Order: sequence, then structure tokens, then C-alpha cells
Amino acid sequence: MIFFFTLFLYAANESTTINRPLEKVSSFLYLTDQEKQFLQEKKELKMCVNPHWMPYEKIEAGKYTGISSDYIQHISTLIKIPIHLVATKTWSESLALFKDHQCDILPLVTSSPSRASFMNFTKPYFTSPLVVATLNDKSFVSDLSKLKEQKIGLLRNYASSELLQHKYLNVNFVQVDTLVEGLEKVVNGELYGFVDSLTTIAYQIQKRFPTQLKIAAQLHEEVALSIGLHKDDPLLLGILNKSVDLVKDDTKKHIVNDWISVKFDRPDLESSIQAFWKIISPILLLGILLIISHYVLRQYNKRLKKQVHLNIEALREKDEMLLQKQRMAAMGEMLSLIAHQWRQPLGAINSAIMGINIKIESGRFDLNDPVEQKKFLEYLKRKHNGIIDSVQYLSTTTDDFRNFFNPNKNKELTPLVAPIENALKVIEHSLRKNGIEIIKEMQINPEVTMYPNEIMQVLLNLLKNSEYNFLDKKIQDPIISIETFYQQKNSVIRICDNGSGIPKEIAKKVFEPYFSTKEEKHGAGLGLYMSKVMIEEHHDALLHMVNQDRGVCFEIIFKNTD
Ligand SMILES: Nc1ncnc2c1ncn2[C@@H]1O[C@H](COP(=O)(O)OP(=O)(O)O)[C@@H](O)[C@H]1O
Ligand SMILES: [Mg+2]
Repeated sequence: MIFFFTLFLYAANESTTINRPLEKVSSFLYLTDQEKQFLQEKKELKMCVNPHWMPYEKIEAGKYTGISSDYIQHISTLIKIPIHLVATKTWSESLALFKDHQCDILPLVTSSPSRASFMNFTKPYFTSPLVVATLNDKSFVSDLSKLKEQKIGLLRNYASSELLQHKYLNVNFVQVDTLVEGLEKVVNGELYGFVDSLTTIAYQIQKRFPTQLKIAAQLHEEVALSIGLHKDDPLLLGILNKSVDLVKDDTKKHIVNDWISVKFDRPDLESSIQAFWKIISPILLLGILLIISHYVLRQYNKRLKKQVHLNIEALREKDEMLLQKQRMAAMGEMLSLIAHQWRQPLGAINSAIMGINIKIESGRFDLNDPVEQKKFLEYLKRKHNGIIDSVQYLSTTTDDFRNFFNPNKNKELTPLVAPIENALKVIEHSLRKNGIEIIKEMQINPEVTMYPNEIMQVLLNLLKNSEYNFLDKKIQDPIISIETFYQQKNSVIRICDNGSGIPKEIAKKVFEPYFSTKEEKHGAGLGLYMSKVMIEEHHDALLHMVNQDRGVCFEIIFKNTD
């Protein structure tokens, strides 16, 4: 991974940096009288520079620019005499002019044994580590000696190149004339890497190869740059060394910052980070996938739950509607049963009233005769009582009817037999009229928590089904038996008939909604379905059907009610 170290805040812009104003120089340069006199006599210094060595130095449009130009301007301010440029075209020309004493100083040179023969050097005032530039996709270079298989570029005739060639004898060094040429060879694959100072390489990468090259390694060696001057100028050497000492680290940093920004491949940290990512990224990816799938599943489950909830709600609503429908059907049946039952008491009332009327009109009783009068009163009382009985009967059946159709209130603790009696009160008359014998065997009558009307409705459904089946199949000696008993801890109501039972293939379906073997006007196929809903869902009880040889039995089982 590549780190961008913006060591230098402003990108190089040579045209605008020429003659930039310097930081205010407040340092005081202490000079001996001899040195002062030397400078006074000298009046100016002449310098020869490398005209193509950015960012260190360069001659552009006849003016001196680059890192070194800032230093020289600084030093000129300190020594209080101007330093003038002697313009040249090449570094060799500059060296030649220097040797010919046409310039006093070379502002930026690396000391080397060959140069030392004709040159003095100030203390180095600028150092830069040697680095290796490679293509962006190459990995970190920990040690130059490990690159012996690879071609590594160097600048010809540079002091640093001499040094490296001496030190790394196994490396396949290739010399080139300019840094740009060397870096281009790296870009097109002719060289694996190129070694030069961080300053120059960083500058060229940023300027020309920002997306292709990176600094892949920093070597232990560094380039130390000094001012070069003639051997016969010992006074000037002293003056310049004192000046160099006065350039503060801050100022140096500032000067360099103004010239370069570097794209630097951090060594150990970088490789460890690379390795870290190699290991961690599949785990991370897996983790992300797991999180995503978990999230998707959760959303899906949520939707599913919502859907199921909606479906259940819809089913519940449907059941509610069916319950209503069944109730209406039961109400119709009840009304016809009641109408049937009312015929008899209404007839009785009618005949009592008619009888009284006839007796009066026919003059059957001589009301002037006290004995006859008494007989008539007794007759009236008898008829009156008969009418009261009938009215009483009518009133009770009306109550039954009204109770039955009252919507469910709360569950009530109700004697188990109560809903059976209530159902029979309504239907017994019709059953008996159709010659159906009813056998009751109420062995138990515990109080059970229930909606009494619903249990009564279920019982009526069962009894009506038996009655219909008897008539339909013209069963001889039809019998319905109604029992209550305990079965383990449960209270059971069992209703059986001898109507020959339900054929096997039908038996599986009788609890399904809308299943009926009857003509439409006789049944909607909801009786047993709704009975099951009412018993099992509203009462947490069970409704079972048991087919027998002679008929069918239905059992309502109230759990744990003994
Ligand atoms: N006691 C019974 N004997 C014979 N068949 C019965 C009996 N009870 C129910 N069945 C059968 O079960 C079917 C479904 O009954 P039910 O759900 O009450 O609907 P419906 O009475 O409207 O037909 C009836 O059509 C009938 O075929
Ligand atoms: Mg039915």
C-alpha cells in the first residue's frame, strides 16, 4: 500500500519561485576582521551551478532557482555581499569555469576524493537519503543487495554512484546520464529500479511519473551536499562554514517543503500492513457477507412474519364471518323449531279462549244459579291456568331463543349439563315428533368454564345432523344417546346416533368448511367446521368424531376439568 507523505506542502512551480522573498534573516554572523576585510575587497561572489538538477538547482530564463538558490540567497544576506550567477548550459561547463577560476563557488556539490584534489567543501548543509524508485506494483525493497538479479539504474559520474558501486558489488548497476532518462527506463521495464537521493527522485516522480512510480526503499546511505570553493580561498571557507551553521533546521525544512512532495512507500510498516490485509481481507469479506446475509434473512423473516400474521388475521376474519353465517343458519333452524313449538301452546291458548267464548254465548252455564255460577268460575280458572302455562312456555322459549343469540360475553363457569338441557329444550319437541328416542345418561355435571351458547350451538348442530340423517336414510327406531362422563381428567359430552354412520371417504372431510352431502337448502357444510372452531379454538377443548357400526359418535372433551 502506498502512503502519500505530503512532506512538502506546495508543489514545485519553478517559474513562480524565482527570486522568492526569503524568510527574514535575523541571525547574526560573527566574522573576524580579516574575514570582514576579505568580503569588503571581494565585493561579490560568483557562482557556477548545475543548470539541470531540480529540485536542487536550475537555471531558468537566465535565473538561478531551486532549493540551493534559496540557501544561497540566505547566505548572501548573512555575508552582506551579493552572489552572482555565472550562467552555463551544462554541469561540465560549470565545472570547467570553476576550475578556470571564473566562479568562486559551486553552491551544491557532493564531496568525493576526485573533487577533493581541486576543491574545498563546506560542511554539508543539505542531506538527503538515497532511495530506490520502482513501478507502483513492485513490492517493498528491504535491502539493495537482495536485488542482484535485477538491473538498478544510477547516475553516471555522481559521487553517490561511486559509493554504491563500491558497496554493492553484486548488484547489476546500469549507469545513465540523467535522472529522467533513468526513471523512464524504470517505467518501460528496462530497469527494475533507480537509485538517487530522495529529494531528486521525489521531485521527478511528482512531476513526471506520479501514477507510475513510487519510492520502494530507503537505503542507509545518504547524499551530503556542501558548497564547493577553491582550495586557495581558506578565508572564504571559514566565512561560508559559519554561514552554513547559521541556517537553522526550521529554515532548511521550510526551503525543502517549498519544493517537493513525496509519494513514499513506507518500509516495514508497509509490508506488514500488506500482509495484514492479505490475511484479514478474506475474513473481513466473509464477515461482511455474513452480516449482509444475516441482515437480508432478518428482513426476509420480518416480511414473512408480517405475511403470516396478515394471513392468520385474514383467516381469523374469515372464521368470524363463517361463524356469523353459521349462526344465521342456526337461527333460521331455531326459528322454525320455535315456530313449531309455539304452535301447540298458541293452539291451546286459542282453544281455551274459543271454549270460553262458546260457553258464554251458548248459555251453557246459568249464571243466575249460584251452583252453575260456581261451575263456570271453576271452568274459567282451569282455562286461565292452561293459558298461563302456555304463555309461560312461550315466554321461556323466547328467553332461550334470545339467550342463544346473545353474542358471547365472558366465559362462565357453567354446569356441563346446562347447555345440553338448553339445546334439548329447543329441539326435543322436533326430535320426538319424528319418532326419535332420546336416551340421556348424565353421569357427571361438573362446572366447566365455557361460552354456554356456543356449546349449545355445537350440540344443536350435532343433534340436527343426526335428525336429518335419520329422516334422509329412513332409519328404523332412531335413537340418540347423550352422555356425560369423565375420561381420565377430562369431562366429556358424547352424542351418538344409530343412523348407520358416515362413509369412510366422507368422514375425512366432514370438518372441512363448505363440505356437505346435503342439498343446498338443507345445509351449507359449515356446521361441523364451525363446531370444531368453537370447541377447539374458543375452548381449548377437543371435538372428535368416532364412526361406529351402527352410527356415528361425536365427543366434546373439556381438558383437565374433573
Ligand atoms: N350424524 C351424522 N350421520 C351421517 N352423516 C353425517 C352426520 N353428521 C354429519 N354428517 C355428514 O357430514 C356433512 C357435514 O356436516 P355439516 O358440517 O354439519 O354440514 P351440513 O349439515 O350443512 O351438511 C353432512 O353433509 C353429512 O354428510
Ligand atoms: Mg349440519
